[in-house]
Amino acid sequence: MRSGTDKPKLSEAEFTILRDLILERTGLFYHNNKRDLLEDKLSSLVVDRGFFSFLDYYYLLKYDTTAEAEWRLLIDTLRVPETFFWREHDQLTALVEVLLPQYLSSLPRGPLRIWSAACSTGEEPLSIAMAISEAGWFDRAWIEIIASDISASTIDKTKKGLYRPYSLRNLPMNLRDKYFVPDEGGLWRIASHIQQRVKWTTANLTLKADVASLATAHFIYCRNVFIYFPEEVIRKTVQHFFEYMPTPGYLFVGAAESLLKITTNFELQEVKGTFVYVKR
Ligand SMILES: C[S@@+](CC[C@H](N)C(=O)[O-])C[C@H]1O[C@@H](n2cnc3c(N)ncnc32)[C@H](O)[C@@H]1O
Repeated sequence: MRSGTDKPKLSEAEFTILRDLILERTGLFYHNNKRDLLEDKLSSLVVDRGFFSFLDYYYLLKYDTTAEAEWRLLIDTLRVPETFFWREHDQLTALVEVLLPQYLSSLPRGPLRIWSAACSTGEEPLSIAMAISEAGWFDRAWIEIIASDISASTIDKTKKGLYRPYSLRNLPMNLRDKYFVPDEGGLWRIASHIQQRVKWTTANLTLKADVASLATAHFIYCRNVFIYFPEEVIRKTVQHFFEYMPTPGYLFVGAAESLLKITTNFELQEVKGTFVYVKR
């Protein structure tokens, strides 16, 4: 029986094979100098399974019949969930004030689709819905918002529509009072008419099959997830987006992310002080 104190050590060889397996499955990459971090994140999972080494855990992920359930736990352990309402809101202004009106004037028929591609707990797609609602576009056009994340448990939680005040820290007070009501425990509940504007699903950005139907959206917000991917995974993901996006199609990435070294497929356009990658 394992005692509580003998925490396993992640050897260099174990680090390499686990790191590569995680990369292959999720796109998330741990540089060599992040071995301690990965050890920290994984050790309680290893101990909880009663394993004595990270190699046993590797075999579980790779070959065991319960591997799928374990991957779900592991992804929840590794993912960085940080997000908040009205984040990088200049990209919302660019949408509702410039790009939506342009696009709607030429859209032949059918809904205009917006995809929030790594939505975490939903603050991004709900902010998009609020911005569109504020600008009155829902009354004038058929607009669909689809939000996805790799983490199924996060998407489930998101459907409850409850948020901590910290998530609302960047949201103007008038929008908070218009689109939220206070709930138990100091939480805020998003208005159901905004929540219902968003369709929620799970998708792994590194899987072409998951991306195929979602990337047909006219606008893609894929923000603050490429910072965790190595260049070759970003390149592959963006190539898949490009294949399925309509023309023109618009791709927003996070302010700290750039595709300039990754692809020449898109034209970089400045809109209202922010940048969007355009498929022409
Ligand atoms: C830092 S949050 C970004 C949330 C939001 N887009 C924003 O900008 O505020 C990163 C999200 O990417 C998700 N993620 C990580 N790898 C992913 C993958 N391969 N496919 C889809 N989502 C992924 C994580 O689960 C996490 O919710």
